[in-house]
Amino acid sequence: MAASNDEKITAIRQKVRELLKDADPAHDFLHVSRVTSLAAYIAGKEHADLGIVVPAALLHDIVVLPKNHPLSSKSSDLAAELAKKLLDEVNYPQEKIPPILEAIRSHSFGKNIVPKTKEAQVVQDADRLDAIGAVGIARVFAVSAKLRRPFYNNSDPFPSSHTPDDNTWALDHFYMKLLKLRDMFNTETARQLAEKRHEFMKVFLDQLRSEIINPL
Ligand code: NI
Repeated sequence: MAASNDEKITAIRQKVRELLKDADPAHDFLHVSRVTSLAAYIAGKEHADLGIVVPAALLHDIVVLPKNHPLSSKSSDLAAELAKKLLDEVNYPQEKIPPILEAIRSHSFGKNIVPKTKEAQVVQDADRLDAIGAVGIARVFAVSAKLRRPFYNNSDPFPSSHTPDDNTWALDHFYMKLLKLRDMFNTETARQLAEKRHEFMKVFLDQLRSEIINPL
C-alpha cells in the first residue's frame, strides 16, 4: 500500500532530524520544529495549504552555511535543491513540490524577497517569528558565540554614534534586523504573534542597557 501523506511528512521529519543532528543551536531541529508549529498554526488561520507549508517549514534550513561563508547567501537555493531530492525519495505529490521549493527559496531575510504565494509568505513569517522574542535573543547570542563576536561595541553598546554592524557585534543585530521585523510580516496572524515578542526584546534591551551603562 502506498504511504499516506501523513506518513510521508513523518518520513521527511525523520530525514531532517537526522540531517540536523549536529547543527548549531540557532538552526537546529528545535528551530525547525518551532517554525513548523508556527507555520502550521498561521496556515490554518490564513487558509494556506498545509500540504505545502508543513514540508517547506521542515525543509527550509536543511542547508545553512555560516554567515561568514562566501556562499552563505545561496543557503536557501541549496536547501531547495536537497529538498527536491528528499521529496522525490518519499514520493511526495509532484504538484506540491514546485510551491514547496519556492517557499524554501524565498524564505530568507538576506534576500529581501516578498514571497509571491500565500504558502511561502506563511513559512517566511514563521521563520521570522522564531528570530524575535526570547528565542530570538537566545539565537543571536548562539550565532555570535559560534563566530566569536563580542556582545557589543564597548564605546557605543547600543549603536547611536556608529553604524550598526552585526558582523562585528552581536547587539547590532537587533538594530539591523530584529527590531525591524515587526513591520515586515506578510500575514495578519503573524503580525499579531510578533507584538508580544517585539515588546519583550525592548524590555530585554532596556534591562541590558541599565546593567551595562549604569550597573550600580
Ligand atoms: Ni530558519
